[in-house]
Amino acid sequence: MTSNILMMSGVKSLKEVDVTGKKVLIRVDFNVPMDSHNNISDDSRIRAALPTINYCIDHNACSITLVSHLGRPKGAYDERFSLKHVQKRLERLLGKRVEFVNDLEVLKSEMNQCSTERVFLLENIRFYEGEKKNDPVLSKQLGDLCDVYVNDAFGTSHRKHASTYGITEFVGTKVAGFLMMREIEAFSKALEHPIRPIALVVGGAKISSKITLLSAVIPKIDKLIIGGAMSNTFLQALGYDMRGSLYEAEFLQTAKEVLETAKAHGVNVYLPVDAVITDSIEHPVDVKVVPAQDVLEGFMAVDIGPASVKLFSEAIELSNTIIWNGPMGIYEVSQFSKGTYKIAGIIGDSYAYSIVGGGDTADAVEKAGEKENISFISTGGGASLELLEGKILPGFERLDRR
Ligand code: 3PG
Repeated sequence: MTSNILMMSGVKSLKEVDVTGKKVLIRVDFNVPMDSHNNISDDSRIRAALPTINYCIDHNACSITLVSHLGRPKGAYDERFSLKHVQKRLERLLGKRVEFVNDLEVLKSEMNQCSTERVFLLENIRFYEGEKKNDPVLSKQLGDLCDVYVNDAFGTSHRKHASTYGITEFVGTKVAGFLMMREIEAFSKALEHPIRPIALVVGGAKISSKITLLSAVIPKIDKLIIGGAMSNTFLQALGYDMRGSLYEAEFLQTAKEVLETAKAHGVNVYLPVDAVITDSIEHPVDVKVVPAQDVLEGFMAVDIGPASVKLFSEAIELSNTIIWNGPMGIYEVSQFSKGTYKIAGIIGDSYAYSIVGGGDTADAVEKAGEKENISFISTGGGASLELLEGKILPGFERLDRR
């Protein structure tokens, strides 16, 4: 087993500790996709945390505090990212009242009058400046709220934040939830004795946090297939004018380095050869398919085109392990969803061991009707890439060991 996976699978799980009568704090990842009216478009991440929450309820924990982030607020309150938008769905799925608390101090006083089985949902932890800074003061405040800390936020386990990492300094018992254990098991299956060739398919709009990982991942894979906004950055780096398309100008050099690393390791890189372009995302009047190098003035690339789907499908069909992270275009808009759904279908049809990672990609797979055809749907996007890279994820690092 690769040493990072071996280390992470050796952490204690929730099952190995007693939560009866205890105050339990569970770090969950309720960073779910929402539409512009704050309707949750995919609640898989909430569902994935239910076994851990229910276990604590069934074993009569004194109180259960759920802590999560949502989106990327700038360390202050922002209505769009309030977790109150998640409360109702959580109540419905749990079949139980969930008390929404918008402040740590309020939560602390509520806990003093704790009677069994109260479930609290704390407001977005990223509204606190100290969260992303892994601030010891905030870490201690969180640690003081519990006897047992359970990390079940696999999707955020690559972040060294107060609620995923710092808190472990201030709690006696700290274990992994069932989702964390399930994820690590699935990845160990893909990475322990991988059945080659391994294809990594990447896309999506979170370019900066993923592109920097690619060079480190390349030695572990055989093929790299790049679509979505990520591919715009590569195409721009290759000298094409991507015009109004989303790309990261500061990462053009990184993109070139990724291509050089791939060449040095004999890893084939597949980039889109054509693109769906539009004059507007919200009100498209003119939508066309053009060669990838011919994005027109006043247009932007929003999906991969049919020739790219064909090219990518050939590379995917000849792979035995497929890891997919990030959509091929703006799949939320039906006109621009074809490329993503077709790739979902091709991966779903393949006989390979397939892992799909990341909230948007999992959502796209579900919408494409391919959920049942994927070997494992991970709740982690960036986290799964860092695993692939061979890293020990901070969310596992300081948990108790067996
Ligand atoms: C994710 O969606 O990948 C996780 O929730 C982590 O979010 P982040 O990239 O904003 O830290």
